Amino acid sequence: MKSALKLARYLKPYRWYILLAPLLMTLEVILNLLQPRLVQRIVDVGIAHLDLQEVIRTGLIMIGTSILGAVGGMTNGICAEMASQGFGVDVRGSLFRRVQSFSFANLDAMETGQLVTRLTNDVTQVQEAIVMVLRMMVRAPLLLVGSLVMGILTSPRLAFLPLILMPVELAALAWIVGRATPMYTRVQERLDRLNETTQENLAGVRVVKAFVRAAHEEARFAKANDSLTDGTIRAGRTVAVTQPFMMMTMNLGVIGVLWFSGIRVTRGEMTVGQIISFVNYLTTALFSLMMVSQLVIQIARATASSRRIQEVFDTEPGMRDPAEPRDWRPAGRVVFEDVTFTYDQSDPVLKGASFTAEPGQTVAILGSTGAGKSSLVNLIPRFYDATSGRVLVDGIDVRSLRQEDLRGRVGVALQETVLFSGTVRDNIRYGRPDALDDEVIAAARAAQAHDFILALSEGYDTMVGQRGANLSGGQKQRIAIARALLIHPAVLILDDSTSAIDVETETRIQEALDELPRNTTRIVIAQRISTVLNADKILVLDDGRIVAEGTHRELLASSPIYRDIYDSQLGSGVAPRE
Ligand code: UTP
Ligand code: MG
Repeated sequence: MKSALKLARYLKPYRWYILLAPLLMTLEVILNLLQPRLVQRIVDVGIAHLDLQEVIRTGLIMIGTSILGAVGGMTNGICAEMASQGFGVDVRGSLFRRVQSFSFANLDAMETGQLVTRLTNDVTQVQEAIVMVLRMMVRAPLLLVGSLVMGILTSPRLAFLPLILMPVELAALAWIVGRATPMYTRVQERLDRLNETTQENLAGVRVVKAFVRAAHEEARFAKANDSLTDGTIRAGRTVAVTQPFMMMTMNLGVIGVLWFSGIRVTRGEMTVGQIISFVNYLTTALFSLMMVSQLVIQIARATASSRRIQEVFDTEPGMRDPAEPRDWRPAGRVVFEDVTFTYDQSDPVLKGASFTAEPGQTVAILGSTGAGKSSLVNLIPRFYDATSGRVLVDGIDVRSLRQEDLRGRVGVALQETVLFSGTVRDNIRYGRPDALDDEVIAAARAAQAHDFILALSEGYDTMVGQRGANLSGGQKQRIAIARALLIHPAVLILDDSTSAIDVETETRIQEALDELPRNTTRIVIAQRISTVLNADKILVLDDGRIVAEGTHRELLASSPIYRDIYDSQLGSGVAPRE
């Protein structure tokens, strides 16, 4: 309930709709409550005395009041819809912004599928509750009390009937609500699971096909799918009891009325019109109880959903900008001071790493898989924060810079290339949407992508499929390098970015990188020793420690590990470019 109240702040801009809705509803209900009385008048006064004038006059009043009531009801519906739609747009937007502010660590801890459900289905649940509340919150109690009062006024002697029937119905409805509410919470959880399964399957569909696991995946999906259907049907079955039970109590009521009043009509103590009118009021009262029960169920569902939504809002972005960010005039000096780094309380993956990359230098990082190379470079643009020690750019701790300033000048080509659906040009321009075409082409040339891009069916305007589906691994990597280059980085990080590129093309990329502005510091992770031969400095990383540091020649002489890697890959025939 607390989270529901917290979400209520998103209703504030729509307060006029929310105030207006109950007023319009009240109008509709009052006009509706008059109808049975008017019917009574037509029967007792008009028809009984064969007074056609009276029938027509009362009929016209009925038509007038019901039109007015309908207008009230319609405007109420519009108000409710406006408030709930506005609320939905705002909450979804706000959730999305929140997720954008999450750090890598936040996102590591969240299931994508769950986030999707919260942004879509959970918001819809709350929206539906808002509509229902605005439409029924006033209507149900007002109709209930109103029709009871009017009924009793119509025929006080029959007042005992609702007093017997209402508690019976109330008990039944309470039973239904009590059973259905937890069922709906479970439905929500199962929907989560279905979304997760779908999400994961679609993301990995190529692997599924490669390993011919479609049948397994279908079974997994069917399980989640059936369990959702099963839960929904169960809940639906419980709620389905409501209608027939209601009809039964209503019919009992009608029979009761006829039993106890039939005799009075013959004795002339009651009129037929009174009976019709009373039956009307009684069924309305019983019906409004059912509305209340539906309202309660929907509110319960929405409460569960609002808790899940609020959880996202309550997740503190793991990384905030400093209160007083420092100015950074990028020169490109990167210093690690005794940096230790741990993901999520496990064993440290970096242990006391220290090194310096001078402006304009190329620093290469070599090491076996899992040694911590990616983890190390990810600390420079502050994708994660060091657990202890400091990462400095030009003498400034990266934590005292605004993330935007830092990342705006640290160009990264991540190990796993991610492209977006859109044109090749848009993908290269991703970090600087205002870049001119010439700049895009220059970056693509440096990344040795220009030629293959021109060979694509529509050149730079070729559409890239989702995740870059229609490009080769090496092509994607080159676009990612161009994207990183285009922001004119002071520090360029290439995390294994040439792994899918042939040695010749890679050499050309290296030569192009050598021509970058003097002050661009390059930090290059590579598996191939040919990539690192010409680096100003090579760091050999082993199990989170920098075990050797120097130029190719120095390391050949001093580091047995380096010597081993060198021998295994190249033998002794290859030498650095002079
Ligand atoms: P890295 O991802 O830093 O290794 O993971 P690496 O040197 O770049 O390896 P390759 O060459 O790309 O394959 C270092 C350690 O950190 C853990 C991994 O289990 C690995 O042992 N790790 C990595 C995490 O715990 N969480 C992550 O999100 C990433
Ligand atoms: Mg890596």
